[in-house]
Amino acid sequence: MTHLELRRKFLEFWKQAPRNHVEIPGSSLVPQNDPSVLFTTAGMHPLVPYLLGQPHPEGKRLVDVQKCLRTDDINEVGDAIHHTFFEMLGNWSLGDYFKEDAIKWSYEFLIKVLRLDPKRLYVACFAGDADASRDDFSAKVWESLGIPKDRIKFLGKKDNWWGPAGETGPCGPDTEMHYVLANGELSEIWNNVFMEYNKTADGKFEKLAQQNVDTGMGLERTLAVVNGLDDDYLTELWQPAIKKIGELSGKKYEENLKPFRIIADHVRAAVFAAADGVTPSNKQQGYTLRRLIRRSVVQAKQLGFDPVRLSEIAITFIKIMVPVYPELSSHQQEILAAIAEEIQRFQKTLDKGLGLVGKIDPFDLYQTYGFPIEITEEIYKEKKLAFGKKSFEEKLRSHQELSRTAAAGMFAGGLADHSEQVTKYHTATHLLQAALRQVLGDHVRQEGSNLTAERLRFDFSHPAKLTADEIAKVEKLVNDWIDKDLPQKKETMTYQEAISSRAMAFFKERYPEKVTVYSFGNVSREICGGPHVEHTKVLGRFKIIKEEAVAAGIRRLYAQLS
Ligand code: SER
Repeated sequence: MTHLELRRKFLEFWKQAPRNHVEIPGSSLVPQNDPSVLFTTAGMHPLVPYLLGQPHPEGKRLVDVQKCLRTDDINEVGDAIHHTFFEMLGNWSLGDYFKEDAIKWSYEFLIKVLRLDPKRLYVACFAGDADASRDDFSAKVWESLGIPKDRIKFLGKKDNWWGPAGETGPCGPDTEMHYVLANGELSEIWNNVFMEYNKTADGKFEKLAQQNVDTGMGLERTLAVVNGLDDDYLTELWQPAIKKIGELSGKKYEENLKPFRIIADHVRAAVFAAADGVTPSNKQQGYTLRRLIRRSVVQAKQLGFDPVRLSEIAITFIKIMVPVYPELSSHQQEILAAIAEEIQRFQKTLDKGLGLVGKIDPFDLYQTYGFPIEITEEIYKEKKLAFGKKSFEEKLRSHQELSRTAAAGMFAGGLADHSEQVTKYHTATHLLQAALRQVLGDHVRQEGSNLTAERLRFDFSHPAKLTADEIAKVEKLVNDWIDKDLPQKKETMTYQEAISSRAMAFFKERYPEKVTVYSFGNVSREICGGPHVEHTKVLGRFKIIKEEAVAAGIRRLYAQLS
């Protein structure tokens, strides 16, 4: 069975009467309105408001295929069934059918549609605890379908409870379906979660007003199982990549399972993250992408091929997945560029860092040079040096603690701190945006900004590299406005009033009902949290020091005040 057939069979099954589900499109890997998690980690994630009771425009029965990315078990990647990026086939009842129908239909799909062997099916149900009772009901339904008692296990919260996806939200006991592979091992292929609880901020589980069903079936594992394979990487989803890695390295998959699988997994995840607009960086989603690419580079080096050629592996994934995700083809250039640039950057780091291994503290290698801990460890072993993993881990922990504190204190407008210098740079950013719009046109919009006490960085939409003449014009305008000593004006109004009064808004942000608008003379007017200087003269001289591309259609400027 091909992956396209499996998708179609799943969607059709749930859409048919008497199930009558409506197919909805999957969401982006980067959650649109939820800053509490970096990536979409499950099919239910975009549906949280509806599981909590808000009516869904498509009704109470939904089905889809959702791209997911999870990094919590990144260290398990390398075995036959774990992946960072994967797809989840899912169906939902939003306060409609519950345990009995969910389990009967799941069984019907596995046995009648996929024609799996019922004798190889094991199931697990919730054992019960102080928060929720033992799920004897689900076990009885399984028994009524012919699953003998000795293939029904009862397990506790750790294994048979799912959610919430973040700290709070819908969750509940689940029943899991496991299938015996050809090699005798069990693979979990499907999970039916009976989401009738809401975990609150104080850690309590309260009953929701409605009883939901949330199911998730791993596409990669299920495809392996229906094709009688005990290794996901042997399916058509991965084989072109595995063959390519074999060609590039001259090595055999069977003799190098772990590195082949890590490279394939991470490159595929990188392709999908980049396709959804993530670019490698030191922060948030960008940092995950960076790690995925860097870890594949390390594995490529260890297998003995030039990491630059990882993009050929990326192309194999684009080819196999493009019928499902056409954006892979329309964004192919950006995806490959993001990966290629990060490989280059990392190779420079590696060259610099290699000479320093053994000379400076491993934590500084990691922190200052972005040197992967795996490599440092490896070289220490080769050189028979004592690595001191404990001390490294302690330093890492206290560093993470510090960055968390810094992030929590971060100002919404992209400010690192509120010092006088940073306030000046913040005001300069407003003048810069106004100047860019005068010189380049009204299509210019802020895409991001980052300020330190030494410089400002400003990303904006514009299709081409700026010419020297354009840069000079922008600089001159900003300096003229500074010389005019424009006064700052601060007003509070509703978001609608602000937009009608032609204030610029940074549309990537969600605004509260009441907003502040900062104006400087009549050259700049923006919705913004501040703070800003009172008069522009204090900014001194403004100079653009660097211009570059960030992504297709997005340019980045660095500028300094003196
Ligand atoms: N949310 C559950 C899971 O991720 C079932 O969809 O396994």
